[in-house]
Amino acid sequence: MFGQCADMDPILAAAKKRNIPVIEDAAQALGAKDKGRMAGTMGTLGCFSFFPTKNLGALGEGGLVTTKDQDLAEKVRKLRVHGAKVKYFHEMIGGNFRLHELQAAFLRVKLRHLDQALKSRRQNAARLMQELQEEWKAVFPAEKCLCEGESNAVGKKVDGTVLLPFSCQETSAEHTWNQFVIRVVGGKKRDGLRDFLSKKGIQTEIYYPKSMHEQKCLAIVPGEFPTAEKLTSEVLALPLAGNFAFSLTL
Ligand SMILES: Cc1ncc(COP(=O)(O)O)c(C=O)c1O
Repeated sequence: MFGQCADMDPILAAAKKRNIPVIEDAAQALGAKDKGRMAGTMGTLGCFSFFPTKNLGALGEGGLVTTKDQDLAEKVRKLRVHGAKVKYFHEMIGGNFRLHELQAAFLRVKLRHLDQALKSRRQNAARLMQELQEEWKAVFPAEKCLCEGESNAVGKKVDGTVLLPFSCQETSAEHTWNQFVIRVVGGKKRDGLRDFLSKKGIQTEIYYPKSMHEQKCLAIVPGEFPTAEKLTSEVLALPLAGNFAFSLTL
């Protein structure tokens, strides 16, 4: 999420043990790496998005699926064109998921500039990270992962504390900063900061206002997910682009 890989090794190990294929949602993570492995190459399938807000954004909708499995590749190709390998001979139910040639041509040109764009994003993210510490007294979350009991540590933090984006990864992991997401401890404080920035003409976004189990279509999933709910009330994405990052000196 947000441009970095998940901590893939435990996921891959658990899936292998149970013989479950792993589908990597690398929509936001094109170019990200985990221990030298590219996002979208570690599971059975990798899915990328070329939606305009992505680091490699098309002029409209677009996406890509990667796999090393020849049979799956063939299946995905069929799904892409109404389930047909040979035109008008439909072997399965598919859809129209073709990438338009003009989008592909546009993306091919942009692809040449991707490395440079990611480099600039990383530089901007580093600058923003530093400014947040200096101007807003932002701190890193106590633990690497919420799953390691960070909620207790954060519970001791004062409402309004700004937490810097954290990584579940070793420092060698390469983030692509598709989103630069801070957390503001105490949900109402996040909303207050968002209003303040909006009045200054600075657009922010909340990724995401509802967690999966709160979505109407998935509300059937049983269980309690207090960490996910807490995050939805605290996260705030600040503007960051390859050639631009807003300054906190407002
Ligand atoms: C993490 C994640 N997964 C999946 C998607 C869906 O991508 P698309 O809209 O190209 O199908 C997005 C796009 O916003 C995303 O950010």
